[in-house]
Amino acid sequence: MKFDTPATNNPIDQLKVVGQPVSRIDGPLKTTGTAPYAYDRHDVVPNQAYGYVLGSAIAKGRIDSINLAEAKESPGVIAIVTAENAGKLSKGDYNTALLLGGPEIQHYHQAIAVVVAETFEQARSAAHLIHVNYSRAKGSFDLASEKSKGVPKDVFGTSSESSVGNFDKAFSTAKVRLDNTYTTAHESHSMLEPHASVAAWDGDQLTIWTSNQMIAWAVGDMAKTLGVAKEKIRVISPYIGGGFGAKLFLRSDALMAALASRVARRPVKVSLQRALIPNNTVHRSATIQRIRIGANRDGKITAIGHESWSGNLPGGGPEAGALQTRALYAGANRMTSNRVSHLDLPEANAMRAPNEAPGLAALEIAMDEMAEKLDMDPIQFRIKNDTQIVPDYPPRPASNDPQTKKPEKNEPHNPHPPFSIRQLSKCFEIGAERFGWDKRLSKPGQLSDGRWMLGMGVASAFRDNVVTKSAARVILDRRGHLTVETDMTDIGTGSYTIIAQTAAEMMGLPLEKITVRLGDSSFPVSAGSGGQWGGNSSTSGVYAACLKLRDAIALLAKGQKSEFNITDAVFTDGFIRSGSHSFLLAELAGSRGLVAEDAIEFGDLDKRFQQSTFGAHFVEVGVDRFTAEIRVRRMLAVCAAGRILNPKTARSQVIGAMTMGVGAALMESLEVDKRFGYFVNHDLAGYEVPVHADIPHQEVIFLDETDPISSPMKAKGVGELGICGAAAAVANAIYNATGVRVRDYPITLDKLIEKMPIKV
Ligand code: MOS
Repeated sequence: MKFDTPATNNPIDQLKVVGQPVSRIDGPLKTTGTAPYAYDRHDVVPNQAYGYVLGSAIAKGRIDSINLAEAKESPGVIAIVTAENAGKLSKGDYNTALLLGGPEIQHYHQAIAVVVAETFEQARSAAHLIHVNYSRAKGSFDLASEKSKGVPKDVFGTSSESSVGNFDKAFSTAKVRLDNTYTTAHESHSMLEPHASVAAWDGDQLTIWTSNQMIAWAVGDMAKTLGVAKEKIRVISPYIGGGFGAKLFLRSDALMAALASRVARRPVKVSLQRALIPNNTVHRSATIQRIRIGANRDGKITAIGHESWSGNLPGGGPEAGALQTRALYAGANRMTSNRVSHLDLPEANAMRAPNEAPGLAALEIAMDEMAEKLDMDPIQFRIKNDTQIVPDYPPRPASNDPQTKKPEKNEPHNPHPPFSIRQLSKCFEIGAERFGWDKRLSKPGQLSDGRWMLGMGVASAFRDNVVTKSAARVILDRRGHLTVETDMTDIGTGSYTIIAQTAAEMMGLPLEKITVRLGDSSFPVSAGSGGQWGGNSSTSGVYAACLKLRDAIALLAKGQKSEFNITDAVFTDGFIRSGSHSFLLAELAGSRGLVAEDAIEFGDLDKRFQQSTFGAHFVEVGVDRFTAEIRVRRMLAVCAAGRILNPKTARSQVIGAMTMGVGAALMESLEVDKRFGYFVNHDLAGYEVPVHADIPHQEVIFLDETDPISSPMKAKGVGELGICGAAAAVANAIYNATGVRVRDYPITLDKLIEKMPIKV
């Protein structure tokens, strides 16, 4: 079905099942350890061998020679694949670096070999017996020193630089001005389940059981990399232990398993060892961001400028920290710029809320600083500069395809389209009340609880809602049981559950009568999981397929009873009813059952209206006045993200994202060895992420909102909104507690301690 006019009343509005806080239907499988993750798929093909990936020990240069003799003699070894015997390979559209390096090396820990053996231990042991001679070349590893060479590069098909009015003039004449530079760190996704794949060839047909967020992209890039037809490749990824963007694209585990299996002539499973992941796969690039804001004395922004610099391998895009600044606050004169410098570090790419997460980490400290200069409450300052139209369009075109979408330069458009619905100020008002914002003292360093200095901070949360084509198939069997099939993935987000809720609502069936099958390329192509587009788009695809099935059922009912009035038909309790007539779905399905397949295809509503999600973060911290140890005490996020399909799974998404925001604020940083060009702390012992105990109290409030312009579900994305701005709210709370302003993330105690107001 085409969705090109705003949704009117539809079966989802019943909210009998949708909108209910249903526990995840895959929960019991997860908690009993029986959900089959990729590396657990011992059962799918017999005779699996183990692959172990060897990463390059240099960041840039060449392999002069590679001696496999000793490794080949090692016990249990079946085969070793390197670039020399892998056959001709291309690069997938979504990859920046090659997944198998050699002789040219593009980054540290780039895969250069996979050893196949009877056991994992044998493969690992043999891998350490491979002798490689390298010629190391000089590389660029430091963003700060390469910053001046940064170039603009399109972001998701949108120009990375923009300008409205006359920023320079307006800024130079503004009564109150801020000009500060902020930095964010390189970050690692650190999802719990490592990248893992089992590959098996049957003739020229390849099947891969893997852990991937975007099934169709994985199929396409595997086909392209191997130079085979897409039809020859099946990707299966039903359970995913987190992705956060690291599993958006094909990674070396899948390719190495495929190559190894081809050479070894038997199924091969590969998991990337944790210590390989940060350098072998992808990370979020560090950023340097200069923000300039000019305002009148009354707090009205007259000029806003945001420039962001990040690094990537040649061909890779920027971490566009300035992107959201085009649309978040009003202001007649503006400029944004997102530049990328060539770094020979591993490939940088999307990590949860790419662009906005680091962008708002900087912008929302700047807003706090500006409010202080204006002697305004930081919430009032934001409300004063709220806007119902986009001040600098387009912040982002509608597409789920960052690599191939081209800007539509000549397309006429409203330069300042309205938001479909924007309740940012309301989020702040409700949050202020709930959090007790009136207890905050605007002068920093005034409140304490024993040795803890206390402070509160706020920040805006903001991220676009992307809608994208999504298909599904629904099968009604003679028991009246419905099965949904779509290649949508559940990366821990609750996709299984909200899809089941959608189908149950549409068909008038209890949840127990719905089976959801996901993550298989033999199913219709869905939106996949990324960019917080998955939940709304994929359930809309299921909605479309169910509508088609309802039509087929209604026709059957009419066939049975010609007085049956189709236009009044309702689906409830396993029946289709109209007037005094009703039929059991099970009976109409008959012994052969009924199948319907459809896709939701979105028209231009996302161009006529800017669809975004909004929120307000509130954080209270305590900072030890003697050691500068920082402890988050309370967090609250108030979110406006359209209809909430399941308040329980949505809340889990938001608190998880808030937790990740705390990580970015206080601990997460991949440290670069600037001589050798690699991330030093490349495991979870050295790369710290927050755990539950770090955040004792988190609360989430969802505004009761529907967005009929977004989709028939009237929902929007919510999976990434929660991280947007969270880090800045922590930073602002630390400032309020201590009076020490840190503009360099993560805010570790060493950056505070010298400046703490009270010394021992
Ligand atoms: Mo998200 S970083 O698009 O998985």
